Amino acid sequence: MVDAHSTLFERIGGSDTFDQLVRAFYEGIREDDVLLPMYPQEDLEGAIWRLSAFLQQYFGGPQTYSEQRGHPRLRMRHSAFKVNPGARERWLTHMRRALDTLQLSPLDDGEMWGYFERAALSMVNTFED
Ligand code: HEM
Repeated sequence: MVDAHSTLFERIGGSDTFDQLVRAFYEGIREDDVLLPMYPQEDLEGAIWRLSAFLQQYFGGPQTYSEQRGHPRLRMRHSAFKVNPGARERWLTHMRRALDTLQLSPLDDGEMWGYFERAALSMVNTFED
């Protein structure tokens, strides 16, 4: 049921839910021998904060991400990494599993998943292996 809350951020339970999602996502990253080397090994907690804060902002929560990091410019920030279609599939697989742990309503799940699929497609910056 869609209740009176106006943003997805509020509907799914605020910051705690986003932290839970991103932590579950990073559990997958930790096991991924292709993606893990791209991430800052000494600062995975920082990476968890950045992704969670960004998603909270995107889905209608506090604007803390941009206060701390500036304009997201995600495609530009990903240009340092080799994001080919295989990397995109892996990223999405981890995010799908993480999203499943939240057991959201079909509407909220669909809104988040649709965004992740589109965003991941736009992050691809090479077709080389
Ligand atoms: C398609 C495959 C993707 C790969 C391989 C990838 C990889 C990475 C890596 C290695 C980082 C650096 C981690 C850090 O230090 O913060 C990063 C950062 C980030 N990624 Fe991705 N990413 C992908 C897709 C996405 C998507 C779809 C989103 C948004 C929905 C996203 C959002 C972010 C954000 C917000 C940051 C932190 C940016 C910053 O403030 O520096 N990424 N990504």
